[in-house]
Amino acid sequence: MAIDLMGKTALITGASSGIGVELAKAFARRGANLVVVARRKDRLDAVAAQIRAESPVEVAVVAQDLSTPNSAAELEAKLRATRTQVDVLINNAGFGTHGRFVNEDRYRVRDEISLNVSALVDLTAAFLPGMVARDFGVVVNVASTASFQPVPGMAVYAATKAFVRSFTAALWGEIETPNVRVFAVNPGATESEFFDVAGGKPSGPMARTVDVVTAVMRQIDARRSQPSVVVGGRNAFMSWMSARLPAKSVIRVAGKMFLPPSQ
Ligand SMILES: NC(=O)c1ccc[n+]([C@@H]2O[C@H](COP(=O)([O-])OP(=O)(O)OC[C@H]3O[C@@H](n4cnc5c(N)ncnc54)[C@H](OP(=O)(O)O)[C@@H]3O)[C@@H](O)[C@H]2O)c1
Repeated sequence: MAIDLMGKTALITGASSGIGVELAKAFARRGANLVVVARRKDRLDAVAAQIRAESPVEVAVVAQDLSTPNSAAELEAKLRATRTQVDVLINNAGFGTHGRFVNEDRYRVRDEISLNVSALVDLTAAFLPGMVARDFGVVVNVASTASFQPVPGMAVYAATKAFVRSFTAALWGEIETPNVRVFAVNPGATESEFFDVAGGKPSGPMARTVDVVTAVMRQIDARRSQPSVVVGGRNAFMSWMSARLPAKSVIRVAGKMFLPPSQ
């Protein structure tokens, strides 16, 4: 049975493009008010205007860089000032870096870990306790199929997503009420700005952002969500295989897909 999101508030990070925009639209269609967060305010304003035109919900725009150390606390303070209670937290903001680790910009890699891991944990720490106390809430952490094996060529990115999936699955195991849902969603390659930012677009089929939303909504409405869900049957099979094949083979195959040629 679909859970009632009417009048609830969903905080969605990374809602200025790609998967985050589609998630924001989907939650608005379910009657949830939104807080949309990312760095590009013009993009957030445009998304907010489009959603307000389509759905009778409130959309608050917060332009914020979530990769800085106190960003989650700053966001929390802004929401406290407007007495905004977060019922749904979608930790979607994230980016990848592509290349051999020895050639990577160490500061960009540091920001990648800050955003993909630290901000996600910090925001969960900020809002999950209130959900548990009120016995209602949803936390969706966006991981990736890259979380299922080390990925030469995207070493740090894959490691951040392995963290997200493990952390989230452990929280799933800690939450004992069925009214608070915590799960990770693992998209494979999906049409968005992700590969423009990371570089190194893989060959092969790309999912649509709406496929990710469908997987998320299915888990939200399930009697008990899975700890972690993979988007798409082919990706689910590949992830299942990655856990069963010898590590050396799995790493070599991932490297063939993502490792840039040596210079
Ligand atoms: N697309 C894929 O193939 C794929 C596959 C698996 C997992 N994922 C994951 O899906 C999530 C969404 O990515 P996407 O595919 O939709 O890519 P995207 O189109 O590049 O969207 C990334 C979002 O994150 C925001 N963001 C980036 N850096 C930020 C920062 N420092 N502070 C706040 N917000 C920041 C971006 O907004 P601003 O630039 O405006 O800040 C944007 O809204 C990510 O966690 C990604 O790792 C994507």
